Amino acid sequence: MQKEKILVIGASGQIGVELTMALRNLYGNANVVASDLREENELLKGTGPYVSLDVMNKEMLHVQVIRQNITQIYLLAAILSATGEKNPNLAWNLNMQGLLNVLDIAREEKIKKVYWPSSIAVFGPTSPKKNCPQQTIIEPITVYGISKYAGEFWCNYFNKRFGVDVRSLRYPGLISYKSEPGGGTTDYAIEIFHDAIEEKKYECFLKKDTYLPMMYMPDAIRATIELMEAPQKRISVRTSYNISAISFSPAEIAASIKKRIPEFQIKYKPDYRQVIAESWPQSIDDSVAKKDWHWKPEYDLEKLTDDMLKNIK
Ligand code: NAD
Ligand code: SER
Repeated sequence: MQKEKILVIGASGQIGVELTMALRNLYGNANVVASDLREENELLKGTGPYVSLDVMNKEMLHVQVIRQNITQIYLLAAILSATGEKNPNLAWNLNMQGLLNVLDIAREEKIKKVYWPSSIAVFGPTSPKKNCPQQTIIEPITVYGISKYAGEFWCNYFNKRFGVDVRSLRYPGLISYKSEPGGGTTDYAIEIFHDAIEEKKYECFLKKDTYLPMMYMPDAIRATIELMEAPQKRISVRTSYNISAISFSPAEIAASIKKRIPEFQIKYKPDYRQVIAESWPQSIDDSVAKKDWHWKPEYDLEKLTDDMLKNIK
């Protein structure tokens, strides 16, 4: 049987670092090639192979895939919601062309599996706010959301038309401490922990009652691996699966921190990210993921707060 050799593109980012390490534990260090445009993340150094790679350079990407005998690709390089609104053209180009380059090469080289994440940002103001279903009205208002929605249908197209086994999750806002977040609207829920420990206060760029779907990174990494390990016949969604763990507002996460750091104070100064946040659902219905490949989250707000504070300290 052919040995798996995995290429992670965007491995130095918030998800990439932890996903690369989890894949290395599973498949062996030498069998997971980390790659990124920026330099190798400190946490990855010495743990396995790293190549400098621009996903926009299709020729170089193709060369690497052949040279390294790659059998699976995880594409994480993208521009997120808040940064995307500052440079819509750049976000559209990277998020779309990067994906098309990977899908084309996957088809040509008969790559066994491709992973590409979508986001709750595909949903817009006309989608249901509570328990937003897998299939519903989808009218995103950010360039990031538009690129994710188009990307989902490219994945579906390459699967149906060319048989590429590409799988995807609509991640909620991801909370982690190992590597920095990359410019999303949900990043406040990470900054708040750092400021709570360092300064005992935080100025939040969203209003106090802005509910958003969130997930702790260990749950997101496990969801990704469980989806990718599931037998093909269990995968009924080839656009992208809704997944869910917790929903909370800035006021609720602040209260959870205050229970553990009583001096902690929060102020609210909403900026352009408020409009983005308000366009997204407050909670997500992930019953299809639960049914298809038995998805189940582990972390609630209390458990997440304990773990974040312990590890950042
Ligand atoms: P990130 O910004 O932290 O990491 C992205 C990485 O891609 C960075 O290390 C960056 O240097 C790299 N990159 C950028 N341009 C590149 C290029 N041309 N070639 C190669 N690498 C390049 O992002 P993340 O939070 O780790 O997100 C990864 C994926 O997950 C993205 O598709 C994102 O949309 C999706 N997602 C993330 C979240 C979240 O909360 N973090 C939520 C939903 C979806
Ligand atoms: N966390 C991401 C963002 O805020 C959601 O995709 O952009």
